[in-house]
Parts: sequence; C-alpha cells; structure tokens
Amino acid sequence: MNKIKKPLVILTRRLPDIIETRMRELFDARLNELDVAFSRQKLKESMKEADVLVPTVTDKIDEEIIESAGNKLKLIASFGTGVDHIDLKAANKKGIMVTNTPGVLTEDTADVVMALILAVPRRIVEGDSRIRSLNWKGWSPTGMLGHRINGKRLGILGMGRIGQAVAKRARGFGMSIHYHNRNKLHPDIESELEATWWENLDQMISRMDIISINCPHTPATNHIIGKKQLQLMQKKAYLVNAARGEIVDEKTLADMLIDGKIAGVGLDVYENEPSLDKRLTSLPNVVLLPHIGSATIEGREDMGNKVIINIKTFVDGHTPPDRVLESLI
Ligand code: 8YV
Repeated sequence: MNKIKKPLVILTRRLPDIIETRMRELFDARLNELDVAFSRQKLKESMKEADVLVPTVTDKIDEEIIESAGNKLKLIASFGTGVDHIDLKAANKKGIMVTNTPGVLTEDTADVVMALILAVPRRIVEGDSRIRSLNWKGWSPTGMLGHRINGKRLGILGMGRIGQAVAKRARGFGMSIHYHNRNKLHPDIESELEATWWENLDQMISRMDIISINCPHTPATNHIIGKKQLQLMQKKAYLVNAARGEIVDEKTLADMLIDGKIAGVGLDVYENEPSLDKRLTSLPNVVLLPHIGSATIEGREDMGNKVIINIKTFVDGHTPPDRVLESLI
C-alpha cells in the first residue's frame, strides 16, 4: 500500500511543546529548536522548500519573500491574529492561502488592555518602582495621587472581539463606553455594553478621558492616531495601545508626553519592535510592556491548536476555518 507523504510544515519559531509534538505526529514538521528568528535568506529558503509555512508576527512576509516561494507552498498558517506582517495581496496573486488564529486570544489581550487602563492613571508601576528603589518615605495624604477610573469615558478605537471584551471589563469598573468603528454595532450589543458610537474619530478623541486602540493594523489604520489626533486629546487624557504600534505616531506621542500635553500612556506594542522611541523609557507616566497581550500558556496552546486545525483541514482538501480574505482587510 502506498503511504501518503506527510506535508513539510516549517515553523519559524518555537511553539509550545504540546503543539510541536502534535505537529510532528501529523506532519513532517521542521522545528526551530533554537528559536532564533529567521533571516530573510532563511525565510526565502523555507518558502522554497515547504508545503506549509507557520510564521509569527516577527517574520516579515513581504512581496519579495512571497515571490521566492516554490510551487509546493500553498498555505501560510500564521500563529497569531494580526496579519499585517504578511502581504496578503502578493500571497493571493501567487495562489497561497493565508490563515490566522482569531478568537482564542481575545480575553487575554483584553486583560492586558484593562491592566494598562488601571496601571497608568493609578500609577501602579511608578509605585512599585518607588518601593524597590527604597525611596518610599511612608504614607501621606497627597502622596502618589492618580486619577479615578470609575465614571470616566473610555473611547475604544476598533470594536471587534477584543474591543468588545475591553468594553465589558471597563463597564465593570464603572466607565462609560464610547467607540469608533467602521460599522455601528448591532443595537443589542450596543445596549448590552451601553456603548455610544462615534462616526467621527476626531470628535470622539477630543472628548475621552482614556482612549484604547483595539483595531487591526491595515493601510487604512496606519498612523490613524497621528499628530492631529494626538493634539486633539485632552491634557488630562490617557492612551493605551495593545493592538499594533504602527497605528499610532510614536514619535509625536513621545513629543506630546515630554511637553506634558497628555496625561499618560500604556503601550504593549511599538512601531518598530523590538525598538522603541527611547525617550518613552524615562517618563514616569508611561507603562511599557513587551508585546505580551496574548502571552498566556493557555492562549499560546489554543493558538497552536488553531494552526494545526487550519493546516489539517487544508491538507485534507477543505477550506480552513480561519482563512484570511484579502478583501476583508
Ligand atoms: C501574538 C498578536 O503574540 O496575535 C496577534 O496579532 O499581536 C500577538 O498577541 C503574535 O502575533 C504572535 O505571532
């Protein structure tokens, strides 16, 4: 009997053990034991050789890389929800399908957004540093005052899964919910979240106490929070971003913080990761996280399982559940 050859699946980074083991059972999976990010050359070689590539956000799969793909490569099964690191148009043109892992990192990412919403106005990280530097002189009525969360207006840019999960949490903390989205939510969801839609982003920005960015990074959202929008923010307002750094003009953001034109910022993502505008690191009213929105053991295993399901359904001749359509971006 002829044995069916297993597809060659190349993983560009280490994934959780349980995921890698299952991949080895199902596919001819080539692992990246050392977890060193692939060079462009190595990416090109992998694109030539593989039947399926499993990249992550740290791999820039641009047009040139896609053009280097061999005839065998028919699927890029990305580990992650955002697909802005992949040129979808070029992939489509070359007949390569792209999948992602939506849904399973919604709650974890919303938790980190909420953590930033609490940490910046309440000066949590600054307080921790004060203790660690043995600089705390004791309680005082006017010491380390921050701003109240309860009753504040939260403006969410991007009311998809993660935006809505943030809204639910923020309601629990007594905030009022505002949002800007391409489309107005279904009235049932709007009334459940007690959310107010703003068709005009600039109008919303100028009225909010805290702004949270939760939209995907696409050509349309690149620097959508640019100089003009940052200047519209109130002096007492905060901004948090756990979506993608490129959505915000990071340099202007740092300028405005230095000039005291906004109250504070919480970031989990940066325009040119892993670098960032160094000036941000010396400001006390800024909380900086290393892109950990979805970094839970449970989340990473769920993401890996989604990648496996996408590959398996594809090699079995079906449309994978998480196919990303270029037209939706
Ligand atoms: C992931 C993310 O860690 O899924 C996303 O879009 O931003 C992250 O939470 C990363 O993309 C994994 O590739």
